[in-house]
Amino acid sequence: MAKSNKRDLVQAAAKARQAAVAPYSKFKVGAALLTRSGEVIAGANVESASYGLTCCAERVALFKALTDGKRDFIGVAVVARAPGGPMPCGACRQLLAEYAPHAVVWVADSRALHRIREFSVKALLPEAFVLVPAESVVKRG
Ligand code: THU
Repeated sequence: MAKSNKRDLVQAAAKARQAAVAPYSKFKVGAALLTRSGEVIAGANVESASYGLTCCAERVALFKALTDGKRDFIGVAVVARAPGGPMPCGACRQLLAEYAPHAVVWVADSRALHRIREFSVKALLPEAFVLVPAESVVKRG
């Protein structure tokens, strides 16, 4: 992965974060997915007065991408005002494990976008729950 790609994706997540709808927590999160062909799909968290309906930035970006027919994700960047960058929650790890199993995860604090920490989806959710082989989900959608 070229360094600029990683930085560009973090920038895209930071930009997406500005559109977060987080009136309750005030915790704005942006996420951006990168496909193998170089497309970037971004999203931000959206909260509900019925708190449990809130959707994380990672899932908003993933649902946008998937329902736009995008597949083959090689990276995902997540940005929030959090020391060391925001780590994806368990629910998002599950979705990423299903639809972006080979992706690299980059996280950064919105106050220090150049300081990027790197993980893999596999490492963040080892032995993920699947009903069908992950490969067939990723390929067929
Ligand atoms: N949030 C995300 O967008 N991504 C995560 O991985 C964890 C949490 C959002 C959900 C909620 O709007 C706010 O952060 C506070 O939990």
